[in-house]
Amino acid sequence: MKCKFCSDKPVVHLKPSNLYLCENHFLERVEEVTKRAIKKFNMFDNKDRILVAVSGGKDSLSLLYLLNKLGYYTRGLYINLGIEEREYSDESFEYVKKFSEKFHMDIYTYNLKEEKGKGITDIMKHRKNYKACSVCGIVKRYIMNKIALEKNFNVLATGHNLDDEVSRLFGNIVFWQEGYLLHQNPVLEEEKNKLLKKVKPFCFISEKQTALYAYLRGIEYVRNECPYSIDAKTIFYKNILNRVEENSSGAKLRFYKGFLDIQKKYFKKVHKKYTEIMGEEKECKICGMPTLKEICGFCRIFERV
Ligand code: AMP
Ligand code: FES
Ligand code: ZN
Ligand code: ZN
Repeated sequence: MKCKFCSDKPVVHLKPSNLYLCENHFLERVEEVTKRAIKKFNMFDNKDRILVAVSGGKDSLSLLYLLNKLGYYTRGLYINLGIEEREYSDESFEYVKKFSEKFHMDIYTYNLKEEKGKGITDIMKHRKNYKACSVCGIVKRYIMNKIALEKNFNVLATGHNLDDEVSRLFGNIVFWQEGYLLHQNPVLEEEKNKLLKKVKPFCFISEKQTALYAYLRGIEYVRNECPYSIDAKTIFYKNILNRVEENSSGAKLRFYKGFLDIQKKYFKKVHKKYTEIMGEEKECKICGMPTLKEICGFCRIFERV
């Protein structure tokens, strides 16, 4: 068996397109598909300053590596969320540091516990009726945006991959979350100079592919799942979708691309409805960031603990 494009031994078989690829051609393909997504969705170009949010996982570290390799102006940001169970945050940080040293790339760090007095583990002790992942999601998004603005970046990139996007889409469709469906896109444009443009350049790259990319590029990453996400719905949905993919190769990609086409066609109609459902945005009375309520989600979390 040979690589589709040369005589080297294949390291991977990409089933949907029935491609056997050697190491070099696989790496090249991941880079090409990412470049195409960046262009197709007008994510950024060489004039932009891109902050890549890195968690210590395979997706975000690979993304930082790849964007840097492609010559974009990038820098990483790691948020130490203070998840103390199984020393998850500290372990993730170790991988971020290793990456930074190995590839000579400085990475900003933000320590939630040091800055706000409480980490996710502390917060959850006070808020038993809340899901850790929702609290953590609000905190992460807020901090990423805040640091990016402070450091003069104009684009915020995350490592969300095809499997992340497809499982989120599946969940949004199962419960017909119109508002969320409207906002699920590889690019969210900047809002009111306060919410930076957000992009997901790996939206067409599967989880297996980012893992192999990281491995072949010598990127070590945290393999443990976050202790709070063990029974999270996304993992359940990912398992279901993996079974669908096993049965019909390419299903995930078609599901996602089909959705994006439909979203584009109906976007304007839905947008009107979205503001009707959600109401207009106001400014948070504490921090001034856009919010649908009087006080934004982030400030509410820290107000109560
Ligand atoms: P997750 O929400 O854990 O699926 O992560 C999605 C993306 O959010 C990752 O690919 C990263 O880009 C970003 N991210 C997650 N956790 C962190 C963190 N602790 N610090 C910075 N970025 C993060
Ligand atoms: Fe935030 Fe798991 S990474 S709760
Ligand atoms: Zn080859
Ligand atoms: Zn606020």
